Amino acid sequence: MDVLLVGSGGREHALAWKLRQSSKLGTLYIAPGNAGTASCGINVPIGQSDIAGLVRFAKDKGVGLVVVGPEEPLAMGIVDACEQAGIRAFGPTSGAAQLEADKAFAKQLMRSTAVPTAEARIFERFADAKAYIASRDEPVVVKTAGLAQGKGVFVCDDPADAILAAEKIMVQKVFGSAGQKIVVEEKLLGEEASILAFVDGKTIYVMESSQDHKALCDGDTGPNTGGMGAYSPAPVVTEAVMDRIVKEILVPVVDAMNRNGTPYKGVLYAGLMITPAGPRVLEFNVRFGDPETQAILPRLRSDLLEVLLAVCEGTLDQVHLEWDNRPAVCVVMASAGYPGPYQKGKVIEGLEQASAVEDVVVFHAGTTLADGKVVTNGGRVLGITGTGADISSARQRAYEAVSMIHFEGAYHRRDIACKALKP
Ligand code: AMP
Ligand code: GLY
Repeated sequence: MDVLLVGSGGREHALAWKLRQSSKLGTLYIAPGNAGTASCGINVPIGQSDIAGLVRFAKDKGVGLVVVGPEEPLAMGIVDACEQAGIRAFGPTSGAAQLEADKAFAKQLMRSTAVPTAEARIFERFADAKAYIASRDEPVVVKTAGLAQGKGVFVCDDPADAILAAEKIMVQKVFGSAGQKIVVEEKLLGEEASILAFVDGKTIYVMESSQDHKALCDGDTGPNTGGMGAYSPAPVVTEAVMDRIVKEILVPVVDAMNRNGTPYKGVLYAGLMITPAGPRVLEFNVRFGDPETQAILPRLRSDLLEVLLAVCEGTLDQVHLEWDNRPAVCVVMASAGYPGPYQKGKVIEGLEQASAVEDVVVFHAGTTLADGKVVTNGGRVLGITGTGADISSARQRAYEAVSMIHFEGAYHRRDIACKALKP
């Protein structure tokens, strides 16, 4: 079966790498892809938001499946457009993608179904938000309601900072129309975890747990990014915690989406805070996580293409997945300046040497080919995943490979997965 994969990040390289291992896969097209996906299939120069162009390409090539990596095309309705054109597509419809694309919608849905989450208020006017924040003594979190590439959330210990964040989003409009509404919520304390599940409308299959590192700097300090590293599994998600996540969060949300007339199909990603009182939802994403996918998929032994097809066909209840028990750790290498402005076009060296380290996979994110060389082309440039007998050896492998890779201004966190190390 020929497949079109949409996107160009580290997540898409991981998906392409895993799909390539399927005996069912024919030609894999990646639109637009990166220098890494080019080694798994054929990169096609169509942007991820060119929905009409992507559907036309899929139709012309007669692909059997379109797999959508990022949230933007999902929110824009790529799955609806594929379905209308008679093409099978993996991911939620634009209606169901509102779970991620509108944090106010997600909050209301959680409230109406008693899904545990932070207490929150939604604002459409800056003056109202300002008055509310000024009346609070506790730290608050200010969130852009629309899509902001993981950069629209501000955790503020001081009300003055929270008001500045609201002003940035609503008055200066730094995230454009995504900031027409904001969510202001209580700051939760605990450890974070990401739970990704395949959902076919009725059956929920939960993948192995993981933990992202959203902050730019060591010790979870500095501004939020798309994610600077991840590991899987996350020890904080014990069996008892996982039971609660399924019963209190995933099942009620999937049921509510059915009742709303927007059945959920694809990957449902719950970003959670595991608090002393139990798991609380920070956010939903409607797709594979990035960089969580780079830590989860190397642990999947089964055929990914078969699972994606089962989700599309509504036969997930017949699927059983095999996982590698060994943990995996992914360290992101980023361009100097990210998540702010950064330069592109820096030559990357040492990729082959790093890939040769035992149990290491080098996933490309913001890379491209120029004059036969791999050069930087984005904020997050590479995700280096190591697998090992325990978290410590997986970390060691990942960091050994990282040390072999060089480009001007390369930056990475040094404490990825430290939280999971046994004391
Ligand atoms: P989100 O995109 O909503 O997951 O937020 C991005 C990051 O901000 C999360 O991964 C957390 O690190 C942090 N965050 C979001 N909401 C809260 C909250 N209510 N309490 C504490 N931290 C939060
Ligand atoms: N790692 C966070 C995300 O994929 O949104």
